[in-house]
Amino acid sequence: MRVWNKSAWREKPRVQMPDYSDSELLEKVEAQLLRYPPLIFAGEARNLKVHLGAAARGEAFLLQGGDCAESFEQFSADRIRDMFKVILQMAMVLTYGAKVPVIKVGRIAGQFAKPRSDPTEVQDKQELPSFRGDIINDLTFCPESRRPDPNRMLWAYTQSVATLNLLRAFSTGGFADMNRVHAWTLEFAKGEGAEQFQEISSRIQDTIDFMAAAGITADTTHEFSTVEFYTSHEALLLEYEEALTRVDSITNQWLAGSGHMLWIGDRTRDPEGAHVDFIRGVLNPIGLKCGPTLTPDDLKRLLAILNPQNEAGRMTLITRFGTGRLADHLPKLIRAVKEEGADVLWVCDPMHGNTTKSSTGYKTRSFNSILSEVREFFCVHEVEGTVPGGVHFEMTCDDVTECTGGFRPITDDDLSSRYHTVCDPRLNASQSLELAFLIAEELTNYRSVLTHL
Ligand code: PEP
Ligand code: CO
Repeated sequence: MRVWNKSAWREKPRVQMPDYSDSELLEKVEAQLLRYPPLIFAGEARNLKVHLGAAARGEAFLLQGGDCAESFEQFSADRIRDMFKVILQMAMVLTYGAKVPVIKVGRIAGQFAKPRSDPTEVQDKQELPSFRGDIINDLTFCPESRRPDPNRMLWAYTQSVATLNLLRAFSTGGFADMNRVHAWTLEFAKGEGAEQFQEISSRIQDTIDFMAAAGITADTTHEFSTVEFYTSHEALLLEYEEALTRVDSITNQWLAGSGHMLWIGDRTRDPEGAHVDFIRGVLNPIGLKCGPTLTPDDLKRLLAILNPQNEAGRMTLITRFGTGRLADHLPKLIRAVKEEGADVLWVCDPMHGNTTKSSTGYKTRSFNSILSEVREFFCVHEVEGTVPGGVHFEMTCDDVTECTGGFRPITDDDLSSRYHTVCDPRLNASQSLELAFLIAEELTNYRSVLTHL
């Protein structure tokens, strides 16, 4: 294969990326980004790779979650804090079920660019370019707003830096103390209708009490009060990714400095395409979205291109088929991976295959379909003897009404009341935590099957 360089993707077909009309401004922005510091360090990306390698062997479990698309308008310190809080709560509940460390990766500090099924959108007989995420254009439906503006890359960079700065402070500054995290969860389980979650909550409390009695507390034990938190996003806007790609001075390898883990979307995974060409050359752990149209042969090709050395932790396969469809699709891909002897981490994204239109006209997803897809994922992996190594969600800390269902049920009629997403429907904080509890039960069953083998 041709020697990689970080600009060679430009010779490949340009899909799902904007056509910037002002090339002078684009070059100016790229040159500016090139001078800016990377957001992350190579050592962090390597550490995450080691953890993901462990998850592929069943020795850890990945929780990846966050907004479908981060937004400039909804950016605030409180939202970063609350998103971090929900992810920590989910991780703690999942740790209880998985009995292995949970790796926490946010769709955050860079998750701005969106692939779209339709290049244009029609409203009141007017046709305009689709909204492609705040890093590219603006959601407002008018020609000026929808024009791609290179300056938005600088704003997205600034927001990402500020977000990651706060996340780093929260990770080590006392906010992540397990006692605090569990106190929030206990509060949730005390709410009306949440009785079903009290048993797991009180078992976690017993464990914390037991450890405290044995002298393991936030004061004595680093792991009790700090967390490792990683960032991830879809590597879609390659001008932005290329400008933040730098040589790691320790290994001389290339690092995508925009986030710890990058993934390739289901619409941009053409083995001959620009996105695959760019991402193959960076050292970061990478995700590959696997939807119903991915053939076993293409998966084999992609694994050969993206991870020729079969390095552990490099490849995370994020499956997103839609509930009821896993038995048709997943076993074929698992067998392809087995035939290649490829080392991969299997993760379930139960969001993107389960998008529907509600009776009231909103794009939505039902809680039950999301949960069913996760259950099918566990079931197929049990049958195939492979490891279900993680979950991937679109979620928010806010009390939105975007996905239906949950124990505090949201109906089709409720969707209009707090539908705030700029792209896909997200689980709200309560639905996210509820899902974590139900998956923890699933994981408990899975572990008990393992121990009886
Ligand atoms: C996403 O994760 O937001 C996304 C667009 O996913 P996919 O590429 O799987 O459709
Ligand atoms: Co999405």
